[in-house]
Amino acid sequence: MGRLRSNGPCWCDSGVKFKRCHGDIRLLQREPVQLGTVSTPRTVPPEIERPHYAISGAVSTDLGRQIQDEESLPRLRRACAIAAEVLLRTGEAVGVGVTTDALDVVAHDAYVELGAYPSTLHYGGRRDYPKSICTSVNGVICHGVPDSRPLAEGDIVNVDVTAYAHGMHGDTSATFCVGEVDGPTRALVETTRQATLLGIAEVAPGRSLRAIAEAIEPFAHRRGFGVVRDYGGHGIGQTFHASPHINHCIERHDTDTFDVAMTFTVEPMLFSGREHYDRADDGWTEHVADAMPSAQFEHTVIVTETGVEILTVTDSGQSAVGVVDAARPALASDN
Ligand code: MF3
Ligand code: CO
Ligand code: CO
Repeated sequence: MGRLRSNGPCWCDSGVKFKRCHGDIRLLQREPVQLGTVSTPRTVPPEIERPHYAISGAVSTDLGRQIQDEESLPRLRRACAIAAEVLLRTGEAVGVGVTTDALDVVAHDAYVELGAYPSTLHYGGRRDYPKSICTSVNGVICHGVPDSRPLAEGDIVNVDVTAYAHGMHGDTSATFCVGEVDGPTRALVETTRQATLLGIAEVAPGRSLRAIAEAIEPFAHRRGFGVVRDYGGHGIGQTFHASPHINHCIERHDTDTFDVAMTFTVEPMLFSGREHYDRADDGWTEHVADAMPSAQFEHTVIVTETGVEILTVTDSGQSAVGVVDAARPALASDN
């Protein structure tokens, strides 16, 4: 994509060149992430309820839109609150020298303590996902598998948590900085976080699904970043990945509208280099060819009578992603 220009005016409207404000974009270039060793899958105590795919011979669930009612919504709220709590705890464990496998241990123990099953563990059918979270470092766009690689100063890591509890999945992710991170990479992370909240703020019953992408894509482009087209959000509830597909890039044919009580995720991935990526030999890890960092944030949300509510917050309203007041769609700080 290469929209970022060191000598161009900084996107934050400071009136100063990018390199004098948010730093030299050459700092974005880094070594490709090498895959490490993946430890054996962790076990979940038998008393914790499992999703259908983690039980052999079980039938699959409904792939249609996930619409909640008075009975199902409290259960989904519980799953989402647990996911938010697991994400906060795992984020606190991020640091220089910590392996992504160690993060998986922190997350796994937190799910179990809170009574949830880690939805990703043994998910995927043909390719059995072996871990309890995804950890996507630097140029890994998504679905990085926790392994023996220690996090290094200046890395960024997305931690993606999905909790299954009370028959429901709650899905949330955030990108964390490891030690001191350069200005352009921090700009990428903060732009992605804000883009996620701006997209969510557009949701309301009867509106087009495309409203999310219409908020996210131009916002990312103005700041010099691209938006991943091939991965999107998804309906979620009783089923982990259900309809509809949520695009974060504007697609003309995207004319469906939001229904009241429908639940889904918003989870844009922004990249700083070129949009070329491949899947690694592990069958999961998606990384960009130029090793330039990408970031992602994710919330599970519900369409309300008047707008939208973020479900992936703790009981006290906390989230590593942050929250947007749906009544004030314009974010307080736009840079
Ligand atoms: N949590 C991811 C999402 O946001 C899905 C991970 S599926 C896995 O949809 F198998 F890769 F773990
Ligand atoms: Co997720
Ligand atoms: Co998701």
